Amino acid sequence: MAKIPPGVGPRFPQVVVLFGATGDLARRKLLPGLFHLASAGFIPGCRIVGVSLDDLDLDGFRASARKALDEFSARKVSDADWATFAACLDYVPLAAGAPALKAAVDRAEQSLMQSFGGECRRLHYLSVPPSAALPAVRLLHEAGVVERSRIVMEKPFGTDKASSVSLNAKLHEVFAEEQIFRIDHFLGKEPAQNILAFRFANGLFEPIWNRNFIDHVQIDVPETLGLGKRSAFYEQTGAYRDMVVTHLFQILAFMAMEPPTALEPAPISEEKNKVFRSMLPVQPGDVVRGQYTGYRDEDGVDPESETETFIALKCFIDNWRWAGVPFFLRTGKRLAEGQRIISIAFREPPKSMFPAGSGVGAQGPDHLTFDLADASKMSLSFYGKRPGPGMRLDKLSLQFAMHDTGLIGDVLEAYERLILDAMRGDRTLFTTAEGIERLWEVSTHLLEAPPPVRLYPPGSWGPKSIHQLIAPHAWRLPFERAWRGPNPHGS
Ligand code: BG6
Repeated sequence: MAKIPPGVGPRFPQVVVLFGATGDLARRKLLPGLFHLASAGFIPGCRIVGVSLDDLDLDGFRASARKALDEFSARKVSDADWATFAACLDYVPLAAGAPALKAAVDRAEQSLMQSFGGECRRLHYLSVPPSAALPAVRLLHEAGVVERSRIVMEKPFGTDKASSVSLNAKLHEVFAEEQIFRIDHFLGKEPAQNILAFRFANGLFEPIWNRNFIDHVQIDVPETLGLGKRSAFYEQTGAYRDMVVTHLFQILAFMAMEPPTALEPAPISEEKNKVFRSMLPVQPGDVVRGQYTGYRDEDGVDPESETETFIALKCFIDNWRWAGVPFFLRTGKRLAEGQRIISIAFREPPKSMFPAGSGVGAQGPDHLTFDLADASKMSLSFYGKRPGPGMRLDKLSLQFAMHDTGLIGDVLEAYERLILDAMRGDRTLFTTAEGIERLWEVSTHLLEAPPPVRLYPPGSWGPKSIHQLIAPHAWRLPFERAWRGPNPHGS
């Protein structure tokens, strides 16, 4: 395992109060993530107090956590690491109320102080449905554990402008804005941060990163998975609220923002918020809403449901850099492939001197493409001459794959990265109240007058009208050429 450089972990030992500790997200990501952070030595000292509706004792919670690690940890769980982690766990059923929570946090802090001395910090993680978030905040208040703490809030942050303003106001009655970490796990993905490195550490691309050179941008996140046990949540949410207002718009901001004055939380948030302020309201006529056939028959779904399981839209950022450049966003469930890409299409040359039939332009414009998978990739495609007589052109590409660096084992999973940042008090990759409220504001027309949902067959790329939406351009996915595999000779 790579040696952990000094300064990447939090300064103080941490008591994590994990609401929703037996839920889906905790099992898939948060417990495995905390296990990795603790066992790899990122956190100097850590105690985890699980809280949930389940009537479990500590052994029951430990068994549930162990099962989650066996099922979902990407790394092997050794007996020794598990024993150390299990000793850090505690559990409070929600029904036991504020006094029991307070007692568990006190116990955890005392044991940390015995081992490490000095102060501790608290990290409250609310991995609960929206309706349970404010009751959890009130419980924390009642238990008197708000001091020295930070709180991580899961999306959705409201369902429209009014509800997000009211949610933020109620949160601020208990927590100061500096204590609140609204998590958007897409920003914790290594390749999302690499967009900042790519744009601002290189002289090559930033000069052409604007409307004079870029024709349009696509942010495309099709998923093959259906809804499984999440349909009740999803019925109320839909693809726009679940994926666009949170993840896709956040990625868009990284892609479109001006260079920040410093690579620090406040300047970065300010630039992201400026992008959101410049966004034109999303117009219902620029949106395709879809629903896969069979969704209405699923458990927990209204047989006449109008919830969209797919959305594609066109939006604009009306500033000097981007005026007139369309941004096409698409995401949905049960689609043909699971992908997460940003694709930037450059303008074509003003005139072509190549003979008809030479192939120039036949495979679309030059593209710069980012793959946002953990094992991220990037590609720059361009036309080049096919070897041999005459002048025939083919689309070629330069590709970078994280695999080839030999450092793929050092990638922190998005939640791991963000939990660590929240413990350190680093807000760079978190969203702000102002940003979220503005995103709901630009969504108002669409939420008030959504176009009807159109059915699409599972395993397709969405309703047919997606092609009209993007015409005269074309969706980048499915790719005409596959990514190259990892380089077997990579260092
Ligand atoms: C979640 C959404 O936030 O992100 C899910 O609620 C979606 O519907 C998921 O499937 C996608 O995340 P990832 O990291 O698997 O791409």
